[in-house]
Amino acid sequence: MLTPQLAEHLAEADGLFSLLTIPVDQALLDQALKIRVVSNMAVGVDNIDLQACTRRGIPVGNTPGVLTDGTADLTMAILLAAARRLVTASTDARQGRWQTWSPTGWLGADLQGTTLGIVGMGKIGQAVAERAQGFGLRLVYADPNPRPEVEKRLGAIRLPLSDLLRQSDFISLHTPLTAETRGLIDASALKSMKPNAILVNTSRGPVVDAQALLQALQEGWIAAAALDVTDPEPLPPGHPLYDLPNCLIVPHIGSATWNTRRRMAELACQNLLAGLKGERLPYCANPEVYQD
Ligand code: DGY
Repeated sequence: MLTPQLAEHLAEADGLFSLLTIPVDQALLDQALKIRVVSNMAVGVDNIDLQACTRRGIPVGNTPGVLTDGTADLTMAILLAAARRLVTASTDARQGRWQTWSPTGWLGADLQGTTLGIVGMGKIGQAVAERAQGFGLRLVYADPNPRPEVEKRLGAIRLPLSDLLRQSDFISLHTPLTAETRGLIDASALKSMKPNAILVNTSRGPVVDAQALLQALQEGWIAAAALDVTDPEPLPPGHPLYDLPNCLIVPHIGSATWNTRRRMAELACQNLLAGLKGERLPYCANPEVYQD
């Protein structure tokens, strides 16, 4: 939120240290006419109007690499939790519904021998693929760029997105939020998935059409979803997705480990200080700003 107090400080500021919750848009930049650097404490920069910053000659820093493992771990954690229905099972135990061991009690999905479709085979997608290999999942991926090294190392097969959606038992999203990926997983994408499919999103909420997802989960187009990110974010109390037993929601905690957040803060500080000194940012999301 651009509060009056923040606006007042912005007018005086030489640099901006931003979180992914702050839209760094034209309106904000118009009030921050002295800033020489924006340092985002996140790898994603979809909260920032990069072109507007570049036009004004402002380098934008981000924090790539350091949250790859934390986010991949969380992806596997919520994938497994959704597959094995951990929240339902735990709630049932706490609330006295664990009466006996039953051959058909709390059945979930197998991982071994099933297919994981990774949408976006960048650093985090690859780290998820490495972990998933240990669980015996067959790996397919969709990415604008072929990744021959990953194909060789992990046996992942590149497919067009439409084939990946049709073939996968688990679909995990690892694409940045851009004009091309906003709403990528819409009603027709959800309808093309298997009825047993579990959709995992640790990327950005708006990559999935939230209304279509709600309908897909209510009407059984797919089996379940595990979401670290939502649209909107935070998802307000009382949102119908919270009522669905087949929708696991955690509050954007992919990078929430002590070490990861410390490293993110360090990188963001390095970027900020470099920008204030007029040096090239070590991790720059708009390197074109340095071209004449
Ligand atoms: C990022 O850095 O973009 C992540 O979403 C933070 O968890």
